[in-house]
Amino acid sequence: MPTTVRALQGDITQLPVQAIVNAANTSLLGGGGVDGAIHRAAGPQLLEACRRLGGCATGEAKLSQGYRLPAAYIIHTVGPVWHGGNRGEPALLASCYRRSLELAAAQGIRRLAFPSIGTGVYGYPLELAAQVAVSTVRAALEEFNEFDELIFCCFSARDLQLYQRLLAAPPGAPPSPA
Ligand code: AR6
Repeated sequence: MPTTVRALQGDITQLPVQAIVNAANTSLLGGGGVDGAIHRAAGPQLLEACRRLGGCATGEAKLSQGYRLPAAYIIHTVGPVWHGGNRGEPALLASCYRRSLELAAAQGIRRLAFPSIGTGVYGYPLELAAQVAVSTVRAALEEFNEFDELIFCCFSARDLQLYQRLLAAPPGAPPSPA
């Protein structure tokens, strides 16, 4: 069965998937944005568990339980801070998606949702980040077909429109202008 890859608009903390990805920081001890929302929804046990994870490098990923979330697991990854794009940001962002998928596959997770990593507090331009997200996920699926469904969870209608446009384009096609 081919993996379904789709985008939807919503709050990732509410999604009934097996795992959600968190756009965290290197401390893994919580913050604002989607990270704050996930910690609030999962409850205080998440912070305790995250303390034991010992931080996470940019571009890497670590696993915890989901506690009070509908999702059983949280994959915490750390996106790059955007400095204009010449400090390795695209490769680091691609690594977030890649390492999250590897961790999910190793754990037997078949339904997974991503937020738009890096595009809030860390300032990665949404359109560029979405291109990296979609192309990295597609490339990974060429290699391992372990998933039933991968979701790009968009917070705004504008983000959703962008992801839907990218997903509608055939793999490898140059991105069409907005
Ligand atoms: N559901 C889905 N997407 C969300 C939600 C939500 N509940 N809340 C926000 N977003 P950000 P970053 C979107 O800032 O840029 C934290 O303080 C948001 O609209 O959460 O990787 C961490 O601790 C945006 O598109 O993450 C780090 O210090 C996307 O999630 C830092 O922010 C990512 O925005 C990480 O910054």
